[in-house]
Amino acid sequence: MAGSARTNGRRTWRRQLHWFYDIAWFYDIAWFYGIAWLYDIAVVNTPRRHVMSPDVTDGKDRIMEFRDRKALVTGGATGIGFATARLLAREGAEVVIAGRSEEAGAKAAAALGEYGGRARFLQADLRDPESVRRLVEEASDMDVLVNNAGAFPFAPTAEQGLDAFQQLFETNVRGPFFLTAALAQKMAARGGGSIVNVTTIAAQRGIPGTAAYGSTKAAVESLTRTWAVEFGGLGVRVNAVAPGHTRTQNVSSMIGEESFERIGAEVPLGRLAAPEEIAEAILFLASSRASYVTGTVLTVDGGAVALT
Ligand SMILES: NC(=O)c1ccc[n+]([C@@H]2O[C@H](COP(=O)([O-])OP(=O)(O)OC[C@H]3O[C@@H](n4cnc5c(N)ncnc54)[C@H](OP(=O)(O)O)[C@@H]3O)[C@@H](O)[C@H]2O)c1
Repeated sequence: MAGSARTNGRRTWRRQLHWFYDIAWFYDIAWFYGIAWLYDIAVVNTPRRHVMSPDVTDGKDRIMEFRDRKALVTGGATGIGFATARLLAREGAEVVIAGRSEEAGAKAAAALGEYGGRARFLQADLRDPESVRRLVEEASDMDVLVNNAGAFPFAPTAEQGLDAFQQLFETNVRGPFFLTAALAQKMAARGGGSIVNVTTIAAQRGIPGTAAYGSTKAAVESLTRTWAVEFGGLGVRVNAVAPGHTRTQNVSSMIGEESFERIGAEVPLGRLAAPEEIAEAILFLASSRASYVTGTVLTVDGGAVALT
């Protein structure tokens, strides 16, 4: 039976509404896929070096951001220093590594040579002011300085020996102090540069046995802020990286491999750091990606400080 004019009118109106819903649904889907496609292009397929784990920073994703730059890494023959020198060389930098051991230095420089042969070793002892002066002369045209070399003879305060105390302050504070004082001026004269100091979470936490060591690195964190202010107007940025427990040969054998792994298991990320993970943070601060960052301490510790 035919409906009234009023009922037919309502049906026609509903049919039209149905068309509207069909079209709106289609647009919803189109929007969804459009946004997902844009997200895929903009985020998923964009190389994100800074979030990659160190084992995937191979030749494919290097972007040569240190091409035409010269970098000095103290203590660059081993551990965190070597990992940093390797990443810098891979990114196109001409790298100078400094340290006391000629043998370790020559071996490391040869290994770095595989990234274009622009690496050399300079023998230098940071405890010796004359040696620091020579290093400044021989590496006078650096764009990047990584103050990484460090001594870490740990001891409870009551058992701290005077010699080890002096070794700590001469290597970790006095040497880098006068090296930086000279090289920052030279960087400024060449138009600017970037300095990264390597400190430790022991400068921020109370860790038994690290009183003298931690205080040398706390001094370096203080210097980082003062230098950032003193040298900022000269175009020289100064920052620090504070590593947590990092699996380097010398520290592992000093603490004992098993005990060190146990310490690593207790931090929120549940493991020790690889030297390359610290090096990535150093590279970021040294690079122009951190062009507005100065006077800061970047803690790279798997969450250890956050836990306390
Ligand atoms: N591994 C960790 O868990 C950890 C944690 C926090 C902070 N850090 C810091 O990270 C930095 C690197 O340590 P690492 O773990 O990589 O240990 P590492 O392999 O022993 O590195 C220390 C480097 O410093 C050099 N060095 C020591 N005394 C020197 C001196 N008087 N003059 C010149 N160079 C000297 C050593 O080379 P030569 O012996 O040939 O001179 C060595 O290459 C240190 O500053 C350390 O305090 C390490």
